[in-house]
Amino acid sequence: MNSKIKLGIIGGGGDSLIGVLHRIASFMNDNYEIVGAVFNPVWEDNINFAKKIDLDTSRIYPDFDTFIAKETALPKDKRIEVVSVLTPNFLHFPMAKKLIENGFHVICEKPLTTTYEEAEILEKSLKKSNTIFAVTYTYTGYPMVRQMREMIKNGEIGTIQKVDIQYYQGWINTIIHDKNLRNTIWRLDPKKGGISCCIGDIGTHAFNMAEYLTGLEVKSLLADLNYLYEDNTLDIDGTVLIRYSENVKGVIRASQIATGEENGLQVKIYGTKGGLKWEQENPNFLYLLSEDKPMQVYKPGHSYNSELSLNGTKLPPGHPEGIFDSMANIYLGVAKAIRNEPYDSSEFPVMNDGVRGMKFIEQCVNSHKNGNSWVQL
Ligand SMILES: NC(=O)c1ccc[n+]([C@@H]2O[C@H](COP(=O)([O-])OP(=O)(O)OC[C@H]3O[C@@H](n4cnc5c(N)ncnc54)[C@H](O)[C@@H]3O)[C@@H](O)[C@H]2O)c1
Repeated sequence: MNSKIKLGIIGGGGDSLIGVLHRIASFMNDNYEIVGAVFNPVWEDNINFAKKIDLDTSRIYPDFDTFIAKETALPKDKRIEVVSVLTPNFLHFPMAKKLIENGFHVICEKPLTTTYEEAEILEKSLKKSNTIFAVTYTYTGYPMVRQMREMIKNGEIGTIQKVDIQYYQGWINTIIHDKNLRNTIWRLDPKKGGISCCIGDIGTHAFNMAEYLTGLEVKSLLADLNYLYEDNTLDIDGTVLIRYSENVKGVIRASQIATGEENGLQVKIYGTKGGLKWEQENPNFLYLLSEDKPMQVYKPGHSYNSELSLNGTKLPPGHPEGIFDSMANIYLGVAKAIRNEPYDSSEFPVMNDGVRGMKFIEQCVNSHKNGNSWVQL
């Protein structure tokens, strides 16, 4: 008997950025089988892509509503169990809501919704249901990120006093200066992207990383955003001062116009006894700094790592693992939750992380628009 979890995919077609990451991640630990999808809104693209990747086309549906209607009509043991929502942002809310209401587990891309209000509604729907809900803050799946979280939790750098997270990309620099080109990008369209581009797209990863790693909650913030042109309605760069408490402060710097930068997520956390540094473009190295010893470098797969970190490593030390493995670790955690197996709550980000992410985005925009004022989270 096939014991794999039946996975459905909405969005993430062959033309998309994130689709391949989810498909590969779902296969990596042999837990899922893709049995149905709406990869694209255009039928030709949808069906041709399904054929290309050799899926049984009987459960490739023309649109989301048909997906729900046909799948819910199937007997429970045949029906898709979990659905990955990989569409542009504005579709996350209506799709995730309907999926929850129809009893599907959901793996939803970030940002969770386009407004905080929608996120709160979604959270209420989830509370009334019995479904698992994951939000793919992908970077939390890296073994060295998980190791960093455990080291901080175990007090290895003492009491945290400074949190500095930078997420710099440059790709919008090639688009933003040309008005026509700018209008072709859904991330710059408030109807599709939501209230923010840069903070919503990547600042939210940095925010989630800060709370995930430190176990602290952001209490208040002051944001200074850049839109570059008056007729560009969504931010493409931002610097955010963060207060976790009276004595723990930090900064989130995010940019999509840091010319030449690729996917430069860098994390630096300093405590009373030491510091930890990690960067996404070299994810297999975690640096531990202290005043009285040379810098130490931690790497995945070694027995000195925590159980949480080792659970996310598939190969012996020295075999580089990257973004596909990181997403696969999130899918692994979700599989355990669906099967009612024991798992650590830090194995995948949940609804609350998505809701806080939306509050962060909204308050960054509010802070900026209120003349760069301090706002509470
Ligand atoms: N976790 C991460 O690190 C990460 C990275 C990139 C993107 N994302 C998120 O993933 C989502 C998608 O981003 P992307 O860059 O892949 O976008 P994209 O524009 O490259 O791809 C979107 C896909 O959704 C499909 N689609 C659009 N409308 C649809 C509909 N009504 N029904 C079915 N399919 C539909 C499109 O055809 C396309 O295949 C966004 O929410 C984005 O924020 C997350």
